Amino acid sequence: MTRKNQTLGEFIIENQKDFPYASGELSRLINSIRLAAKMVNHEVNKAGLVDITGAIGETNVQGEDQQKLDVLANETFINTLTNREIVCGIASEENDEFITIKGQKNDHRNNYIVLMDPLDGSSNIDVNVSVGTIFSIYRRVTPAGTPVTLEDFLQPGNLQVAAGYIIYGTSTMLVYTTGNGVNGFTLNPALGTYYLSHPNMQFPEDGNIYSVNEGNYVHFPQGVKDYIKYCQEEKEDRPYTSRYIGSLVSDIHRNMIKGGVYLYPSTAKSPNGKLRLLYECNPMAFIAEQAGGKASDGFRRILDIKPTQLHERTPFVCGSKNMVDKVESFMASQES
Ligand code: AHG
Ligand code: MN
Ligand code: MN
Repeated sequence: MTRKNQTLGEFIIENQKDFPYASGELSRLINSIRLAAKMVNHEVNKAGLVDITGAIGETNVQGEDQQKLDVLANETFINTLTNREIVCGIASEENDEFITIKGQKNDHRNNYIVLMDPLDGSSNIDVNVSVGTIFSIYRRVTPAGTPVTLEDFLQPGNLQVAAGYIIYGTSTMLVYTTGNGVNGFTLNPALGTYYLSHPNMQFPEDGNIYSVNEGNYVHFPQGVKDYIKYCQEEKEDRPYTSRYIGSLVSDIHRNMIKGGVYLYPSTAKSPNGKLRLLYECNPMAFIAEQAGGKASDGFRRILDIKPTQLHERTPFVCGSKNMVDKVESFMASQES
């Protein structure tokens, strides 16, 4: 049941019975994410005031500069998720290897795996543009009582039990799904409480926004080039509008509300694109499908991809269903 202006705490309790494995653990896990998000929000909001912006001088496993807030957000989420008897393993875009959590009794009894991009869009921090956090939750596949293994993390997205994102924007929102639709909660910073502001979020079936880094145009596959030209054609409902923030969370959030498609295709230099299947694409794909949208690598459903590596990348097309269908039809016509 959803009521407008319900608090997130009330919502979690009232909907607990609909959660998969309604033992209360997943509710407590979402609760700890809500808490970590408040702490990161506090840091993001003061980013312009204190010396915490800018690169930390190290690169992460992907070879990208780590921003100081990336590190801080990573630590905040890991600490918050570790100090409860729920999570048995965490994998983060910012860590080379997954983290094993033994639990307080060292018995590896916990059931949930969390994968996350602790700070998405971090190149936008220094210029006061919205950033986000993305998370993906699974049940472990190895037996409780044993340490987690890589197998627990390399599950296809269709086995996610929950996924969501936090957007640190003009207002801070937590948007998540447990497989029963998508709901968005806005933080009232004065009270530190999230309220249900966007119940049952739905991707419009069609849209007129396309979001892609067109600077890479010459390196895109022909199908994507053709689709971009299609978006720009003069027809009754076109040209579409181009909107690209460079922060996946913000671009998807806007397109879910207004109708649109986000693309991060393969390029000549990066044949698998840039985005990470486990930390970015799977959670966004789960949310998109739960909101009536669609997510694809251009040819196949993102959620059906069987991952082989923690930091695996994939081309990504996500948004309004009809628009993603159109991209796929352009890709298919270039294949034959
Ligand atoms: P992150 O900050 O976690 O590394 O992710 C950045 C991602 C994504 O948020 C965004 O859509 C994309 O990279 C932007 O990439 P380009 O700058 O290549 O367009
Ligand atoms: Mn990211
Ligand atoms: Mn990141």
